[in-house]
Amino acid sequence: MPDDVSFRRAVASDALCIGVLGMQVFLDTYATDGIRPSLAREVLEQFDTAAVASLLADARARCIVAERNGHLIGFAQASLHEAHPAIVSARPAKLDRLYVQEPFVGIGVGLALLGRIEALAAADGADLLWLTSWIGNARALAFYPRRGYDDVGPTIYAFEGEEHENRLFAKTLRSAG
Ligand SMILES: CC(C)(COP(=O)(O)OP(=O)(O)OC[C@H]1O[C@@H](n2cnc3c(N)ncnc32)[C@H](O)[C@@H]1OP(=O)(O)O)[C@@H](O)C(=O)NCCC(=O)NCCS
Repeated sequence: MPDDVSFRRAVASDALCIGVLGMQVFLDTYATDGIRPSLAREVLEQFDTAAVASLLADARARCIVAERNGHLIGFAQASLHEAHPAIVSARPAKLDRLYVQEPFVGIGVGLALLGRIEALAAADGADLLWLTSWIGNARALAFYPRRGYDDVGPTIYAFEGEEHENRLFAKTLRSAG
């Protein structure tokens, strides 16, 4: 990875850029057939600056940003104490988003963000990190198993009355202590 990529915890003033980068990566990843109203509403709602700011202010949220030359190029966001019915864990955390801007994929930014968010979650007591990945997202489906995540099975992501098949992944976290 280039030396000029750096990582830090997100702060409240990052909400604007996280939201806009989130929209770009979300659309690149999920709007593979073009834009439809349900998808347009979903992306505007999820990545609205106020929505991201309120998420960053949540005591259970953890977020790491990747920067280069003063520009946001990726982020990882997780929620502590977030269970899934198919996951057995005393202290689960959920990886909500791992987004790297397209010009910076494939150079280790995703791996570095994932390692840092895993460490943060573990330091705050999480014993497992889980996530869901759309079955149309071949790159992500290949990425997580190579980083120690087990494919736990199918799950559904629903929004606006639509249902999309996802895979559920989970990894046991080692505590820092
Ligand atoms: C999935 C995603 C997060 C992966 O991030 P990334 O930054 O590309 O990941 P990395 O660069 O760490 O690893 C990707 C590949 O590049 C390779 N790579 C890592 N560092 C490298 C380097 N310095 N030089 C060349 N290749 C490198 C890795 O070996 C890896 O290949 P592998 O999976 O075959 O082992 C990214 O593609 C992304 O943001 N996608 C869009 C959003 C998305 O789908 N998010 C996940 C939703 S569940």
